[in-house]
Amino acid sequence: MARALRQTALPQTAVGKLMASRTFNSSARLAAGVSSGDSFILKTYARPELTLSHGKGSYVYDTAGKEYLDFTAGIAVVALGHSHPDVSAAIADQATKLIHCSNLYHNEWAPQLAQTLITATEASFSSATAGLYAKGADGKIGARVFFSNSGTEANEGALKFARKYGKHVATAGTLGKTASEALRGDPNLKSNIVSFTGGFHGRSMGALSVTANPKYQKPFTPLIPGTQTAKYNRSDELAAFIDERTCGVIVEPFLRAIRRRCDQVGAVLIYDEIQCGLGRTGSLWAHHQYPEDCVPDIVTMAKPLANGVPIGAIMVSQKIADVMSVGDHGTTFGGNPLACRVGCTVLGHIAKPAFLERVKEAGKVLESELEPVLKPYLGGLVVEQRGMGLLRGIQFASDPTPIVNLALQRGLLLVAAAGNTIRLVPPLTVENADLKKAATIIGECIAETSKK
Ligand SMILES: Cc1ncc(COP(=O)(O)O)c(C=O)c1O
Repeated sequence: MARALRQTALPQTAVGKLMASRTFNSSARLAAGVSSGDSFILKTYARPELTLSHGKGSYVYDTAGKEYLDFTAGIAVVALGHSHPDVSAAIADQATKLIHCSNLYHNEWAPQLAQTLITATEASFSSATAGLYAKGADGKIGARVFFSNSGTEANEGALKFARKYGKHVATAGTLGKTASEALRGDPNLKSNIVSFTGGFHGRSMGALSVTANPKYQKPFTPLIPGTQTAKYNRSDELAAFIDERTCGVIVEPFLRAIRRRCDQVGAVLIYDEIQCGLGRTGSLWAHHQYPEDCVPDIVTMAKPLANGVPIGAIMVSQKIADVMSVGDHGTTFGGNPLACRVGCTVLGHIAKPAFLERVKEAGKVLESELEPVLKPYLGGLVVEQRGMGLLRGIQFASDPTPIVNLALQRGLLLVAAAGNTIRLVPPLTVENADLKKAATIIGECIAETSKK
């Protein structure tokens, strides 16, 4: 589900093409508030001609003072809305105390955020007992957290952890006689990583190698060795891809068949909850909406964890934590007190059952506001609307970029996703009146497009 709504690249919109064109009039850009310094930024994005200066709640404002209802939330990041007073206060206070001290030393906030993440995860899915939720001999959850700075970096780390665990399994001979014999003597044999078609896990070499999209991969081949792509939603083909040489499987959707196959071959199951996690679907983790026997060994997270302050994290089960040693992985900025303190503030809101209930309710409101708006176009311009909670998508029969551009003119920010889809990912605090307003504007934009 999440894969269909996910951002792939910012589309090469008509606006973007204009910007990239050499004939573009730079004085027009300056008039639109785009700084002349923009020409010094490497051109990897196509952006519309506006410069955002501030935001409040579900709204942002450009330098000319125009108001936009923000249904992008910085691509599913600003979960509590813009300028949330608790977030601003946490940043301001921590900025006067300690922003960074590196991982050479402990700080007050990283342990607190790790503990909150694990206890909230455990408490909100207390029926689960395997994988990430497995208890140690002392009866306590053995999960642990590593902090990074982004989603890509979290996935990168998770892939490394899976490789390390694969070496451990291969050499410890815990795979059963036949398998361990096949692997014995060469721990590198259990190093393959399986991902799925249509997935997106990031742009660094490891994350890119498990993001099976030629548009992203082709300019940067060769990919890292040992990565394989299986077809999405084909459980009959899993055995052919996930075998005893597999150390890890990374995926966004949550399939019982994948969990079972990973258990059979001793592979680590990684759920990328970077976009769909942390309340977006109406539960703390999207996998909480699935049965307990679909739980992962590793969850990666990022986007909303600090409401826009860069942060990522890898939450691992005890069996993976046990094979990681001092020096195996590291980062300069990850776990800094500023981001972690804000993370504690954000989680303090998101992990509350009433907050999650409201996200579910808001998702239903959005769905029902969109229904009458989309109905006249179903089977024509509009294929369907789908999603869970406040991760919703409207799939169109063709490229929806004209609708995204029209919505911008009418003061609604939207972001396109793969497969002719517009993704709706407002702040999780969005009000019903704004859900209605967005649906109305979307309806007007579709109507205008359909006349052309
Ligand atoms: C599912 C998923 N994984 C990974 C990433 C990469 O995260 P980041 O952009 O923070 O590196 C994204 C970003 O859109 C994502 O949606």
